Amino acid sequence: MENPKKINIADLKTFLKFLDFLNEGIIVIDENKIVNYANKYAENLLGVKEPEGQHFSEVIKNNYLYSIVSHKYNEDIYQTEIIIDSKKFLVKVYNIDNKKFVHLTDITPFEVYKQAKKDFVSNVSHELKTPIAVLKGAIETLDQEEKDKDKKRFISMALKRINQMDTLINDLLIIARLESKEDKVVKTQIDLKRFINDVYEDLSHLTKEKNINFKNNIKENSIIYGDEQKLSILFKNLIENAIKYNKDNGVVEVNSFENGKYIVVEVKDTGIGIPKKALPLIFERFYRVDKSRSRSVGGTGLGLSIVKHITEAHKGKVEVDSKLGEGSSFKVYLPKQ
Ligand SMILES: Nc1ncnc2c1ncn2[C@@H]1O[C@H](COP(=O)(O)OP(=O)(O)O)[C@@H](O)[C@H]1O
Ligand SMILES: [Mg+2]
Repeated sequence: MENPKKINIADLKTFLKFLDFLNEGIIVIDENKIVNYANKYAENLLGVKEPEGQHFSEVIKNNYLYSIVSHKYNEDIYQTEIIIDSKKFLVKVYNIDNKKFVHLTDITPFEVYKQAKKDFVSNVSHELKTPIAVLKGAIETLDQEEKDKDKKRFISMALKRINQMDTLINDLLIIARLESKEDKVVKTQIDLKRFINDVYEDLSHLTKEKNINFKNNIKENSIIYGDEQKLSILFKNLIENAIKYNKDNGVVEVNSFENGKYIVVEVKDTGIGIPKKALPLIFERFYRVDKSRSRSVGGTGLGLSIVKHITEAHKGKVEVDSKLGEGSSFKVYLPKQ
């Protein structure tokens, strides 16, 4: 088929002028590793003038960029991020007709924006933590001492709301800590059965209200390697969900098995289930299938995003299976080492 795009030499010259206006770098390298073209932005970035005709090793002095460009790729498009002159660049290498088209975009502004957003959430959460703790303590004291029925009604309303705020701030602080640069996964050997029992211990008050039957099916002496503090937040969230979104007299069970290089820990419930179309969304921050239900059971919509974050920090993955009205299963894959 004939190419429907009409372009002649004069147009091409105009097009090259246009490329010089771009705020992005473009470099074209042929199969003999000769630079065929670099736009103005690329020239400035590389600190060269009219590099056309030179071998690319003469032109690209930045070691990272050089190794990216000299690498042989099987795929048509390869992309990565690199730092040049303390700026972060997205580098895309397109392999077209035996030539390499290198496209460089400065993504520093996005990084600055992302960091500012994280810092803001972290600062606000830290600032709110203490006043909320003080308010919570005061309202709890009032709640214990007040005898008047009407006043007590208002106090319990306030207590419920302050508890919601407290949960939200705690979840936001967990996220801020997980996202901070200093945060690291510190792995130790963990006895899985005991560990799950300990996590459950903190949640057992929830099971009493709904008469939930909790089964820890993990075999004795099963070992995992992971960050105990982080994994305890992870499994607390999964087991809490399995209880909160369960039916009265339902079952929550925890199983574990091996799968290739992973130990899989499954938290399974006989609860309300999750609609199919919601499954890809539940790990998003603040996503809740039923906002009012989640709120009434004290949820923030952050739990599963924390679960995903911690699993990925362990170089693992998390999968969910669910049948509406029958129950859900969350499987956490953790590398054996
Ligand atoms: N075990 C489960 N059974 C049914 N629905 C669940 C389960 N776990 C999570 N969900 C759904 O996914 C949403 C997101 O979960 P999560 O991030 O923990 O937030 P929440 O604070 O609302 O519990 C919940 O609001 C709920 O709708
Ligand atoms: Mg939750």
